[in-house]
Amino acid sequence: MPNHGLRRLARPADLAAVHAIYMHPEVVPYLGVDPAPLAEFEPVFAELLASGAFFVVEKGGAVCGFHRATRYKGRARHVATLQTLAIDPHEKGSGLARAMVTEAIECLRAEGVKRVELLVEADNPRGVAFYRKLGFELEGCMKRAYKRAGDADYVDELIMARWLED
Ligand SMILES: CC(C)(COP(=O)(O)OP(=O)(O)OC[C@H]1O[C@@H](n2cnc3c(N)ncnc32)[C@H](O)[C@@H]1OP(=O)(O)O)[C@@H](O)C(=O)NCCC(=O)NCCS
Repeated sequence: MPNHGLRRLARPADLAAVHAIYMHPEVVPYLGVDPAPLAEFEPVFAELLASGAFFVVEKGGAVCGFHRATRYKGRARHVATLQTLAIDPHEKGSGLARAMVTEAIECLRAEGVKRVELLVEADNPRGVAFYRKLGFELEGCMKRAYKRAGDADYVDELIMARWLED
């Protein structure tokens, strides 16, 4: 994947920084795995590294955000999905998240991707508002597709997508 400057592929040495952001109480409710100590997070991180599509962004030499951008194959090869996306809460509202996603989308567009899709939990209004601002539209709802450890209820996953015009 081409690199336009802000982001770079994650490296094994990023484990602790990614874990710290991932497990922040304002972040972990909206990502893929439940709160876990570093040792339990290692295999999750190893899988992200192995994807070859997990990127971090840095500020002043410190990792302050990440995302995974995966392209599908075959007849869906014009489609990519964004996952495991977060910004360090200390950078909240700074515009870094917008810059990170904009760069990710431009890299995907340069590779020929036409459609970028993602799932966002229905109880994450900040995430939904953020993606709307970036041009994503609500396309549907996967009912009760998500459940956090300790929660009594299941949560709906919203499908959002953006078509990349030429
Ligand atoms: C979602 C997240 C990445 C957004 O980060 P952020 O720092 O708020 O985003 P930015 O400062 O770059 O804002 C980008 C745009 O979204 C808008 N936005 C962000 N939060 C908003 C809100 N609650 N309501 C309305 N607009 C909002 C900003 O106003 C900004 O628009 P502008 O550039 O036109 O002013 C961040 O909150 C996060 O990491 N959350 C936890 C993890 C998460 O929810 N990930 C998504 C899971 S799918």
